[in-house]
Amino acid sequence: MRVLVLGGGGREHALCYLLTQSPLLTKLYCIPGNGGISEIATIPEGISIKDFESIKQFCIKEKIDLVIPGPEEPLVKGIRDHLEKEGIVVFGPEAFEANLEGSKVFAKSIMERAGVPTASYKVFDNYEEALSYVIKTGPPLVIKADGLCAGKGVSVCKTLDEAQDFLKKIFIEKIFGEAGSRVVIEEMLEGEEASYIVITDGETFKAFPTSQDHKRLLDDDEGPNTGGMGAYSPAPLITEDLKAKIEEKIILPILRTLKEEGHPYRGFLYAGLMIHNGEPYVLEFNCRLGDPEAQAILVRMEGDFLDLIVNTIEGKLASCELKERKEAATCVVMASKGYPFTYEKGKEITGLEKVKNLKDVIVFHAGTKKEKDRYFTSGGRVLGVTAVGEDLPTSIKRAYEAVSLIHFEGAHFRKDIGKKAYKYL
Ligand code: AMP
Ligand code: GLY
Repeated sequence: MRVLVLGGGGREHALCYLLTQSPLLTKLYCIPGNGGISEIATIPEGISIKDFESIKQFCIKEKIDLVIPGPEEPLVKGIRDHLEKEGIVVFGPEAFEANLEGSKVFAKSIMERAGVPTASYKVFDNYEEALSYVIKTGPPLVIKADGLCAGKGVSVCKTLDEAQDFLKKIFIEKIFGEAGSRVVIEEMLEGEEASYIVITDGETFKAFPTSQDHKRLLDDDEGPNTGGMGAYSPAPLITEDLKAKIEEKIILPILRTLKEEGHPYRGFLYAGLMIHNGEPYVLEFNCRLGDPEAQAILVRMEGDFLDLIVNTIEGKLASCELKERKEAATCVVMASKGYPFTYEKGKEITGLEKVKNLKDVIVFHAGTKKEKDRYFTSGGRVLGVTAVGEDLPTSIKRAYEAVSLIHFEGAHFRKDIGKKAYKYL
């Protein structure tokens, strides 16, 4: 099969890595890719991931059998709808279902119809009414811009001032543009967060190994929110009993409701959860794999991943088995100086060749560029240093050993990835 992966982060490197293990794969392309991906896939020059028409022409010319989008933006903007008109097969939801991530208002309303446990909420489309609701209800509250805001559209407001400031930014300064034309204001939930990701054909689903992200920049969950500074899998917080609850109360009702309403969901579906007193609540849905969760999850998969996707597209997921390795995995993200705000670029990355020979370690590239045989930073999150071990502490130790061998100016990373699981071990 000739496959095109869209995206250029650590998640896409992990996806490409797994696809190259499949005997079904004959040719792999990636747009826009990155320095690490360029070693295992062909990166066509000059095609933007935003340019659906050029992607379509490329697929036709290169006789692409399957397109797998990694990030949310092409899915929410309708890449599947666009390519399917030409008979090009895309693994991911259509724009309508991708609204689970693309619109917080849509996600909340479908959760309501499906009876999925989530924070209670109200929707507003203007500053005055939103503010008077915030004053009446009082903090803490969570304010969410409706549309895609590159992970910056949510504020957990502990004071009235914080809430008012965020509402001003959204409605008066319009920092998110159209994506901030409505807001969801919801109750703040307490507990511990975890990610539950499934692959589905709209009816049947199979759960990937469980995982936990580390969204805050600094150790002990301090500092600003980021795209994710590291992940580990499995997450012992999610017991078998909790898994059953998540599937019964969240995954099944959402898939059933979408199907009943004429929009069966095909692709990866990610539920961002808050676990409170042993009960799961949905904070958000994503229409894709998590990043960096994918890096920790995918290295634990057994079997042919491409075959699994093909079976899902053909409606045969029920007959597939998702096998996971018993070993644990940890992914530590190394980021550029300044991230998650304005960050440095163009710093040479050294030490990658030393890590290549380490057992059970894979370095997934995110913001990197390859020039001849040298690698340079080109993004905020640069590398996802991922290790497998017989248990979680071993995988953590291996990942940090590898991190200590890799250098670039200004590199920073959390030192406590995976530690929060120790209380459950
Ligand atoms: P979201 O994009 O909706 O997942 O929100 C981003 C982050 O904000 C989540 O990962 C949580 O840390 C936090 N968050 C979102 N909704 C809530 C909520 N209702 N209660 C507490 N924290 C929340
Ligand atoms: N790691 C969080 C996300 O992918 O949305």
